[in-house]
Amino acid sequence: MKIEADKIKRREILTELRNFHKKDILFSGGKVLSSMCTKPLKIAEEAQKIFKETNLGDKRISEGATEIEKICIRQVGKFLNLHNPYGFITSGGTESNILAIMEARAGRTEKNNGRMAENAKEEIIVPETCHFSFDKISFLMGIDVRKASADKNFCVDLDAVKGLINKNTIAVVGIAGNTEYGSVDDIEGLAQICRAEKIYLHVDAAFGGFVIPFLKKLKYNVRNFDFGIEGVDSIAIDPHKMGMNIIPSGMILFRKEPKFSVGVSYLGGKHERLLGTSPAGPAAGCYACLKFLGEDGYIKIVKECMENTKYLSEGLKNQGTQILNPVMNILNFNIRKEIYNRLVETGWIISKTSTGYARIVIMPHTKKAHIKKFLNDIKQLMENAKNKKRVVDLSD
Ligand SMILES: Cc1ncc(COP(=O)(O)O)c(C=O)c1O
Repeated sequence: MKIEADKIKRREILTELRNFHKKDILFSGGKVLSSMCTKPLKIAEEAQKIFKETNLGDKRISEGATEIEKICIRQVGKFLNLHNPYGFITSGGTESNILAIMEARAGRTEKNNGRMAENAKEEIIVPETCHFSFDKISFLMGIDVRKASADKNFCVDLDAVKGLINKNTIAVVGIAGNTEYGSVDDIEGLAQICRAEKIYLHVDAAFGGFVIPFLKKLKYNVRNFDFGIEGVDSIAIDPHKMGMNIIPSGMILFRKEPKFSVGVSYLGGKHERLLGTSPAGPAAGCYACLKFLGEDGYIKIVKECMENTKYLSEGLKNQGTQILNPVMNILNFNIRKEIYNRLVETGWIISKTSTGYARIVIMPHTKKAHIKKFLNDIKQLMENAKNKKRVVDLSD
């Protein structure tokens, strides 16, 4: 009786969950045009299941998963030009950025020459185009986040950074693929400044980390950003964005062995992560993606995303829309407010930047057919507007 009742209960719960899930918008539907995540590889989903009970935060019982994590960090280190990297799999870019600034704090006496006064408030300098995780860091860590202005290409202005440095600066952040525009800061220039001032340099490549190395292989002209640049101390890179892994998965890589840790006697020693209990499933997923795709697989994915980005930008240009030249698979363009609003109303998941440009992220789940439909919808709305008809009648 009990077995039968449990069976029914299980079925009911799963039906309820499926009904909730129906409300979610799936990547495969093709309407999601401004997410930085995508449909993960099937093998990543399968890999995750194997490790569903493993806690990467407890080394006593996660020897296998810890090994996997090391292998992933080493492999991604190769993509980022570092042969002996340290680091962790995290929950995403936010956690990785927090860990980087924690590390800057942990190592600050060594890095900034001990010039900071004992009780002064620490400061970090970030580009004004940075991700909002740095505002959270300010709140969380009690750090002053100074925002350096950007140039016309939405890259940080080096003179602005120089002007903000003072004896309380513990870190400078550069972005390789910023969230709104995809532009890449002059990391070589920032590194030069940081080397001279002995300041920790973190690169937020949460999005661009799985794009730029492959753009380079495809001979795109894109700036250097990785550990090949002397002075880069850490890089955040997200497998759950262009790395094709399941959510949640980020990564933080350090050039040197991180200093931050806390002693936890009941876990048998040092604990270096931010989260205590940490899922091993994303590490397994990451391993699967890296092995399944290899460098060639990632090159192919980035190539297709760039071709589709070009297809969209050409299509928009042909319709007379002003676009910003994309650096990677993020496209910004001008669009009339009522057309933008109508696109949103008809189910397109698109977004706007803080400067008012429409923002599209062409991820691997976005196919040419989806872009064609999107372009067609815009064209129809533009024609309607020209004919002074109400901008309403878009059929699916
Ligand atoms: C450049 C950059 N850094 C950090 C993050 C934060 O990543 P997550 O949402 O995985 O915490 C994002 C997210 O879009 C990002 O674009």
